[in-house]
Amino acid sequence: MRLTVKEITDKKAKGEKIVTLTAYDFSMAGLLDQAGVDILLVGDSLGMVCLGYDSTVPVTMRDMLHHTKAVSRAAKHSLVVADMPFGSFQRSPESAVRNAVRLLKEGGADAVKIEGGSERLGLVNSLRSADISVMGHLGLTPQKATELGGYKLQGKEPEAARRMVEDAKGLEKAGVFALVLECVPADLARRITETIKIPTIGIGAGSHCDGQVLVLYDFLGLQEAIRPRFVRVYAPVGEIIKKAVKNYRKDVQEGKYPSLAESFTLNKKQGVKGEKAKRGK
Ligand code: KIV
Repeated sequence: MRLTVKEITDKKAKGEKIVTLTAYDFSMAGLLDQAGVDILLVGDSLGMVCLGYDSTVPVTMRDMLHHTKAVSRAAKHSLVVADMPFGSFQRSPESAVRNAVRLLKEGGADAVKIEGGSERLGLVNSLRSADISVMGHLGLTPQKATELGGYKLQGKEPEAARRMVEDAKGLEKAGVFALVLECVPADLARRITETIKIPTIGIGAGSHCDGQVLVLYDFLGLQEAIRPRFVRVYAPVGEIIKKAVKNYRKDVQEGKYPSLAESFTLNKKQGVKGEKAKRGK
């Protein structure tokens, strides 16, 4: 059974850190789920790491549903949270609720995440009135990256920091169950974490948050072009894949792959040898 929203929020009172990673497909989500990740976040970062866009803005509801369904099919233990993509919640509260319901009913997510502060309180109220669990997201909110001056640290100035604390309190009051803090100075993240009762989940926000999230492709070293300073590559899978593919290419070019043992051969007495090695048998 998947963790519940309540089990996630209870972790804060118990002093247990919340382990979150983004996930976008069935096989990876299965591995993360089996490894005991608490929350699988189907982030709209998929637009950049899976689909090759320059920002998360072009990501559609269709994209989000497609990937959320795949992750949900794999998640047996982890809570699944799906991002509401840009444009899916701005038109009206009714269409926002309709889109969020789709992520839960069709996508199989347990909750949705929305970016933004005080300007989203009405939206959070509408979603909560429809019994939809909502995760908030403050600091660097990538859907607004251009307005924020790029992918930069947020809340550096005292007034911006004060506003972020107020936004966090407002979102908590409106009913979000957890709050992502992205690219925020560690002492501001600590202040917010100590001010609100719901858990904070940091990304580039220091160690005082109640949990941490990383983009899976950063965590696995699959993104080489940009590596923010807060990213720790836990396994250099990008390098491993490149080496493996070079070896495969060499083997194929030199006729060394496949070997006889890796081939199906006709054996008159036993029929087709190696038949059991077929996928799924
Ligand atoms: O889209 C995403 O992956 C996110 C995380 C960076 C928190 O929102």
